[in-house]
This record gives sequence, structure tokens and C-alpha cells, in this order.
Amino acid sequence: MNDYLKHISKIEKNFNLSINNDLKSLVNYKDYKNLKFQNWCNYQEGFSQNIFDWFLNHNKIKKSSGIFFDPFCGSGSSLISAKNNGFEVIGIDINPFSTLLTETKIEKYSKRDIQHIKDFKVPTYREIKKLYNKFEFSMVRKLYSRKNFTKIELLKRSINKVNNKKAKRFLFTALTCCLESSSYYRKAGNGLKKRKNIIEVDFFYEFKKKKQQMLEDIKYVKNHLSHKVICGNINKIEKIIDVDSVDISLFSPPYPNCFDYFEVYKIELWIGEFIESYEELKKLRKTAITSNLNADLKRDVSSIDIKNLSNLLFLTMKYLKKEDLWNKNIPKMLILYFYEMDIFIKKLYKIIRKGGNVGIVIGNSSYGGIPIISDLILAEIAKQNKFKVKEIIVARNNETASQQYKKISKLIKYIRESVIIIEK
Ligand SMILES: C[S@@+](CC[C@H](N)C(=O)[O-])C[C@H]1O[C@@H](n2cnc3c(N)ncnc32)[C@H](O)[C@@H]1O
Repeated sequence: MNDYLKHISKIEKNFNLSINNDLKSLVNYKDYKNLKFQNWCNYQEGFSQNIFDWFLNHNKIKKSSGIFFDPFCGSGSSLISAKNNGFEVIGIDINPFSTLLTETKIEKYSKRDIQHIKDFKVPTYREIKKLYNKFEFSMVRKLYSRKNFTKIELLKRSINKVNNKKAKRFLFTALTCCLESSSYYRKAGNGLKKRKNIIEVDFFYEFKKKKQQMLEDIKYVKNHLSHKVICGNINKIEKIIDVDSVDISLFSPPYPNCFDYFEVYKIELWIGEFIESYEELKKLRKTAITSNLNADLKRDVSSIDIKNLSNLLFLTMKYLKKEDLWNKNIPKMLILYFYEMDIFIKKLYKIIRKGGNVGIVIGNSSYGGIPIISDLILAEIAKQNKFKVKEIIVARNNETASQQYKKISKLIKYIRESVIIIEK
């Protein structure tokens, strides 16, 4: 293990590494979950909208200077700030719930659109027969009382009849944003957990409250600039974005920490009817970046030249092989993760203009007591792909599960969340 430590510090010396305590609260969900827009729903993987302002200041980038791109836009945090700072924005995400949320936040609404939203009335309550029949989702009967589930269904039907496209999307977003908070289950770790104290809420009331809150927030988006939000896979970016056209990119890809976003957001995805079958869910999982064990791990990785991707990844794999891991597919998942990130970074290089700055927010993880130092590995990959790695700024050190903590001892300092700043 001492050898491993020596290797890591040698690699670390190749980069300009520092700590910035101001960044801690910008990457820590708990500190900003009550901000406008961010409080629409429980989107724990998001970073703070304010990280964009920090990024502009830190890199001395002028406001209103071109095109901003977030390839993993999630709940749209960076796109709102970029738009408010005078950038045209482009966002992509594979999760249809995320892109719905983002589009609703940054959309340009006319007075007529707003009037349609305001005029929408919740339907009159009535019983519905065969309420659960259309759902393949095994948890569907456990999530709400029959009364609330009926209200959700009645609302969906009424929203579907709204003719104004933007109003319809807005209202549907309001509905999906109430789905978790009104449920008997809540997001917890890598999935859902039954709430200890169940308070029966009135879904119609929650919806009306959410609609009002969202109407207030959208007043704060400057809307004269164009935006594009695409639900799809980042491997298609060259088809969507012109070569050398993007001025800034700031994003947070999935971390290779075994979190499956499709598991975490399953209430919204199923009850919002973004997915209708387990087959569809499987397809979505296959297209996302491989960052968890539900991904397609049947692929052959023997032809991937790990050393060519990153020296540190090669070394990490060597040490990981000696450990008794809780799942035998972990090494494969990690290889695929960095392999896919390498392909993505190559594509990113093409669309960024010369001199354009990119910030990557990433968290390190650990398996079998071996830290997966993703900030250094991704910095190596970016360097290999001709980006200039300007700095790695540590935003915060993470807590790891106590069992892991014992094993990891001296290496604990590598379990951190950082921002890698690179330039074309
Ligand atoms: C850490 S989250 C980003 C959160 C975002 N910064 C925010 O503030 O809400 C990573 C996102 O990457 C998306 N993602 C995963 N694989 C993808 C792929 N192949 N193409 C596009 N998006 C992907 C996930 O759906 C998830 O929303």
C-alpha cells in the first residue's frame, strides 16, 4: 500500500492542486436545497446554481460571452445561471424527468402561456376503475393512498387536455415535482425508503402550492437568449453542437459510486409515465454512462488499453484485483466508466472553442479500501486528449462508510469532491 501512496503523490504532483473552502457549500446539496428552482424537487445529485458565478469569477470570464454547454444538465442548475449571466445555453441529459424539469425552468413564457397555467383548475374528484392496471411498476400500490393515486391520475388526464404546449409541460412538471414529497416513500441512498412518519397529504393541494411556487420562480430567468435542452445520450454531441463553438462548459458527470439515477428517480419516472415497462428501463440504463452495477456489464473490456487511458487507473486496477470486493463486477464497471468518459472528453474537445474553459465537478469513491481517485484519473484523461489541465480544486472531503474508513486509513484524504479546470 505504501507503494500505491507514493505513486499517487507522484501523479498528484503533475497537477496544480489546491483546496477552496468556498466551494464546499456549492457542491453540497444540503446547503442550497432551499434556493429558488432547486427547491422544486428533491434532486440530490445537483450542484448549486451559484457554482456558475464562482466559475466565471475564478476564471475571469466575461458575462454574456457566447455559448454555455452542460452535457449532464440534470435539474438544470448551471443552465439557469448561465442564461441569467447572458449566455446562450445547451443542455443534455439521458433522464427524461431531468430534461423536463430543466426545460420548464428555463423556458420563455408569454403572458398567454402564464394565463393558461393560472387558469388551470384541478379536476373534480371521482373514483376511477382499474386504476393501477396500466402500470408494470411493482411498487405502484405502495406509494400512495388510493385516494391520492386517483387524484394524480385525474390531474394527469386534465393536464393532457391543455392545448397550450408550454402550459401543459409546466403543469406536468408541477405534478411530477410533488410525486415524491406526497409519497409514503422517500429517496434514500441508492433507492427508496418507507417514511417513518407518514402524514397523509392532499395531492390536489400540494399540486396547487407547487404551481404557485414555480410561477414565482420563473420570473427570475432572463429570457431573451436562446436555449436548447435535449433528452439523449452525450455520445451524440457532435450531431447537436458545432465544432469549436462552445465557450464554456461546467458540468458534473455521474460519479462511479454505484448510484443508479434510474433507481433513485423511479417514482418520477414510473408515475410520470416517462417509462412504461421494465424493458424500457433496461434500455435507458444501458445508454447512461456506466457508473453503477445495473448498467450493461456483459460487455467485453479485454481490448481496452487501460494504461493508455490513465496511469493511475492502471495502478488502481492492479491494487483492486487483490481485494475481496463486495461485487465482482466493480472493476469492470470502473474500466467502462473511464473508457466512456474518455470517449466523451474526446468529443468535448472538438466542440469547445480554442481558449474555452471547462469545469468538471467530480467525487472520488472507494472499493475494498482502495480509493478511486476520479479527479486525478479524469485530469490524466483530459491531458491525454490535448486539454490543458489548469488546476484541480478540492471542494470538500467526503465521509465514507465506517467499515470502508477503517480499511482506507492513510488514503482517506483522497475521498473528496473536486472541480477540475481544463482549457482547450
Ligand atoms: C451528477 S448528475 C448532474 C446534476 C446536475 N449538475 C444538476 O445540478 O442537477 C449527472 C447526470 O448525468 C446524466 N447522465 C448519465 N449518463 C448520461 C449520458 N450518457 N448522456 C447524458 N446524460 C447522462 C444523469 O441522468 C444525471 O442527471
